[in-house]
Amino acid sequence: MTLELFGPDESTAATREDLLPGVVVLRRWTLAVDAALVAAAHGVTTISPVRHMMTPGGFTMSVAMSNCGEWGWVTDRKGYRYDRIDPETGTPWPAMPAIFQSLATEAAEEAGYKNFMPDACLINRYEPGARMSLHQDRNERDFGQPIVSVSLGLPAVFQFGGDKRSDKTLRVTLSHGDVIVWGGPARLRFHGILPLKPGQHPLLGAQRLNLTFRRAG
Ligand code: SIN
Ligand code: FE2
Repeated sequence: MTLELFGPDESTAATREDLLPGVVVLRRWTLAVDAALVAAAHGVTTISPVRHMMTPGGFTMSVAMSNCGEWGWVTDRKGYRYDRIDPETGTPWPAMPAIFQSLATEAAEEAGYKNFMPDACLINRYEPGARMSLHQDRNERDFGQPIVSVSLGLPAVFQFGGDKRSDKTLRVTLSHGDVIVWGGPARLRFHGILPLKPGQHPLLGAQRLNLTFRRAG
């Protein structure tokens, strides 16, 4: 189903698509506030810069990451987890900007998940070639809470799998301003991002910025 949310202009109007049970894509949902989101993300990464973290298996991730909010997602040789402290700065992660918080709550509600109050926002910076292999988001305490994921900058191909890594995947292109929300029966589906194609985006240049909101604690 596609539902027009604002404006008659097809190139900028936000739409809502039910992709799979529990998965909703809100196209162009953040276009009207894109510059404010990019500025807020920049404010966070000025304090806690994006960095290439190491997986428990010893591989350096191609995506550079930072966080804001009460909890930040981290990985190193000791494992994947949430931590209140940025290991690079030794201080708490920057506060979650108000515009992030309200956007995540509103997007979740539009997707059918009421009262979502994120306490963690992972900021993923992809440069051409960067990718994220299939994984489940399972370091959060309550799988009853959805995931809200905002795409800015260059487009990327998002893969949605099943509950097993070997399950067939569905591919969906996420462009600047799109939001994907998953929860309920889809909460533990495997997902990932194919290698980012080179390009130039008017606001972000040769990169994609992804904001992933979670209720971690
Ligand atoms: C993630 O699964 O943490 C990132 C997904 C994305 O970059 O869209
Ligand atoms: Fe994820």
